[in-house]
Amino acid sequence: MARIIEMQICLGSSCFSRGNKDIVMYIKEYLKKNHLDDRVVFKGSRCMDKCSNGPNLMINGRMIEEISLANIEAIMVREFGNIK
Ligand code: FES
Repeated sequence: MARIIEMQICLGSSCFSRGNKDIVMYIKEYLKKNHLDDRVVFKGSRCMDKCSNGPNLMINGRMIEEISLANIEAIMVREFGNIK
């Protein structure tokens, strides 16, 4: 059976106001479009205590820092491109 991937996006006030507010929507759409929503548990989280490196995203416990609308597509392709 396919492994479930856990993904958490920081919705603490710093990350939220610096872009994660919009990136949440982008990721939801991406997962849906690529039929990944049954493989990925996607949740918001509270501040990850790394505000100065944010906006932050966590995939299976691994922190991905400085995400933005400009780089999120490349990150998603890198992380999920070959699990279909
Ligand atoms: S608000 Fe995201 S790490 Fe603090």
